[in-house]
Amino acid sequence: MNKISTKLAAYFTIAVFIMEGLLMLYLHDNIIDSRIQEEFQSILSRGNSHRDVLEDRYSNNTLHHIALMESKTETEVVITDKNHHVIISSKQLTNGMHELINDKPNSLPREGRVIEANWKDVNYLATVTSYKNDSNEGYVYMFKSASPLRNLISKLNGHFLLAGIMSIMILAGIHFLLSKMLTRPLIKMKKATEELSKGNFEVRLPKLGKDELGDLSTSIQKLANDLETIQNDRTEFLATISHELRTPLTYVQGYTNVALRDDLLEAERKEYLTIIQEESKTIVTLIENLFELAKMDENNFSIHMETIYSTTFFLKIINKITPAFKSQGIHLVLSSKDEFSFHADPIRLEQMIMNLLDNSLKYSKPDSTTTVIVEQGESGKMILTINDEGIGIPPNELSQVFNRLYRVEKSRSREFGGSGLGLSIVKELVEAHGGHISIESELGKGTSIKIIL
Ligand SMILES: Nc1ncnc2c1ncn2[C@@H]1O[C@H](COP(=O)(O)OP(=O)(O)OP(=O)(O)O)[C@@H](O)[C@H]1O
Ligand SMILES: [Mg+2]
Repeated sequence: MNKISTKLAAYFTIAVFIMEGLLMLYLHDNIIDSRIQEEFQSILSRGNSHRDVLEDRYSNNTLHHIALMESKTETEVVITDKNHHVIISSKQLTNGMHELINDKPNSLPREGRVIEANWKDVNYLATVTSYKNDSNEGYVYMFKSASPLRNLISKLNGHFLLAGIMSIMILAGIHFLLSKMLTRPLIKMKKATEELSKGNFEVRLPKLGKDELGDLSTSIQKLANDLETIQNDRTEFLATISHELRTPLTYVQGYTNVALRDDLLEAERKEYLTIIQEESKTIVTLIENLFELAKMDENNFSIHMETIYSTTFFLKIINKITPAFKSQGIHLVLSSKDEFSFHADPIRLEQMIMNLLDNSLKYSKPDSTTTVIVEQGESGKMILTINDEGIGIPPNELSQVFNRLYRVEKSRSREFGGSGLGLSIVKELVEAHGGHISIESELGKGTSIKIIL
């Protein structure tokens, strides 16, 4: 497998090597160069000072003195006459030295010249300076062994090699760290996503730092948790739906069996058939509502915004539903002061109001009043409040009434014939409008629902 840490380490190594290589070459050359220059400078100036002494007071004594002085140092001196015949030297001359001395320099500057600079191959570095006064003339040759310089340079090379090896070791360490910090978490995350795609949502990823890798890990963990929740919700939802459908279907089945009996009065048969008809209606509404919610879930349900004139619109709806309220003996009042316009999907808005009024109708006693209040909110908003004087909702269940298939007091639901989908549909519709819905209720006193669009 091509590991990302290996790739990164390889790029890193190449970059470091190029940088370090260039730097080392530069340093190496510079150090050696200046060292050699220093060396030459020192023997040249020694030669020059001997020349000064010779020009000043040339005598045998002086010559001996110079030779004696140099024999105690690392450098050697050879003094010749103008024909390159050796007068005195601080040491026995070697063949190489003879060759250099016999190789006559033509024009020599006053400060002398380097005549052997090949420190790599020869034994001695050498310089020459000429001296001249009234009676004497000649050359001062200075020699210095090249081996200390060679030693120094090979030591330097050793140091550079060591630095190179050390940096390779550091790079290996970096590679190891990178693989620990980068590759391993990535492999863990890859395994986690594979588990997710197999449907195993119980992945646990280690907590990483606050970098991109940590973010990715957190996101995958969140995805896993969300998928788990969704799956649990779906299982629970399916269980509830099958339960919801089974109840009316059991009624239908039971009453059909009864209605099929031969010894039944026509009136009784009719009564049973009516029950069957009503239960079938419940099933149809339930399925329609579920379908509606499924459409909203898939997001392929669209809102068609239109300009709506408040009083006209609400009056029409109230008129449509008033007969149902009248037949239950409940008063329905619309309070809408000045007409104003707002934007909403008229069909969806009617659906919301119908669902809410259906609840007020179902959960109110005769002779109570349901009030629909329409107000203009700031910046084109519409505020709709529906107050009823019905049975109310217990405070601890208030937060759950918007959940799908949730009903207060399930055992009594048959009495009202609800399926617990109305409010969840209303909530989805309000949210699709980008609006807000809230509910307040007091048990036995009534319920108030407020929608802001
Ligand atoms: N105005 C209200 N007064 C008292 N209880 C209410 C009122 N509105 C809703 N509820 C309670 O909240 C529950 C959920 O309401 P929702 O409209 O979602 O379902 P439903 O009316 O039971 O069935 P559906 O609307 O699907 O026919 C209801 O079962 C009821 O117990
Ligand atoms: Mg309802």
